[in-house]
Amino acid sequence: MERLFQIAIDGPAAAGKSTVAKIVAKALGFVYIDTGAMYRSLTYKALKTGTDMKNGIKLKELLDVTDIVLKHSEIGQRVFVDGEDVSERIRYPDVTAQVSLVSSFGKVRTEMVRRQRKLAEHCSVVMDGRDIGTHVLPRAQVKIFLKASVDERAVRRFREEELKGLHPSIQALREAIALRDKKDMERTISPLVKAKDAIELDTTSLSVDEVVDRILNIAKERIRR
Ligand code: CDP
Ligand code: CDP
Repeated sequence: MERLFQIAIDGPAAAGKSTVAKIVAKALGFVYIDTGAMYRSLTYKALKTGTDMKNGIKLKELLDVTDIVLKHSEIGQRVFVDGEDVSERIRYPDVTAQVSLVSSFGKVRTEMVRRQRKLAEHCSVVMDGRDIGTHVLPRAQVKIFLKASVDERAVRRFREEELKGLHPSIQALREAIALRDKKDMERTISPLVKAKDAIELDTTSLSVDEVVDRILNIAKERIRR
């Protein structure tokens, strides 16, 4: 059987993980798996059903009856929860504000990780998240840890909001990003941390193309070996 190849991309919010992961996956013909979208989907469902987001057992019960599908098409990834296209909805501030809490529970994470590993069972993947190199795909041939200054990351999110016709305060975006990073780094189970064998890329002053080129060079070199 053809050897499957795994690229794990982790890092804090707005470091550019999903943007570069999608391009790298396309260039290599691999499947892109956005694990953050899975945690966001459960958070959306919890909001919709009025589930107590401080209760890990209730959240796990909810996850057990929730179908989360990542579909890939020419126009990019679409995310479906129980058949409903939630691709835009899961990026709204109410979901973003609660997702770190929802993803902090061990029972929730165990089930998510089971689903994520299953998605990578039969194809080569680029998977992005917080614990991919450390926990979900510990044997990934390429592990990247993307980072950038919090100021730069706030500006990146601001530009994205501007494109949608919105004008949020950069300061508020900066604070929300810093708070989410803190929660993700301080949780007990699979916190956001660089894997020992991950390559760290500081993207603060790099363009998307430069980051993609670096990751592709690393991946191609390892694929050749
Ligand atoms: O794209 P952005 O950085 O805003 O976040 P995301 O990748 O969509 O992830 C949203 C949240 O899900 C993170 O802040 C984490 O709390 C959680 N997450 C996680 O715990 N583990 C992962 N593998 C991916 C996301
Ligand atoms: O997935 P993550 O939260 O890490 O970041 P993202 O959702 O990919 O958002 C990163 C934003 O910064 C996007 O608008 C990118 O166009 C932009 N950007 C980047 O990803 N990488 C750079 N080196 C420069 C800008």
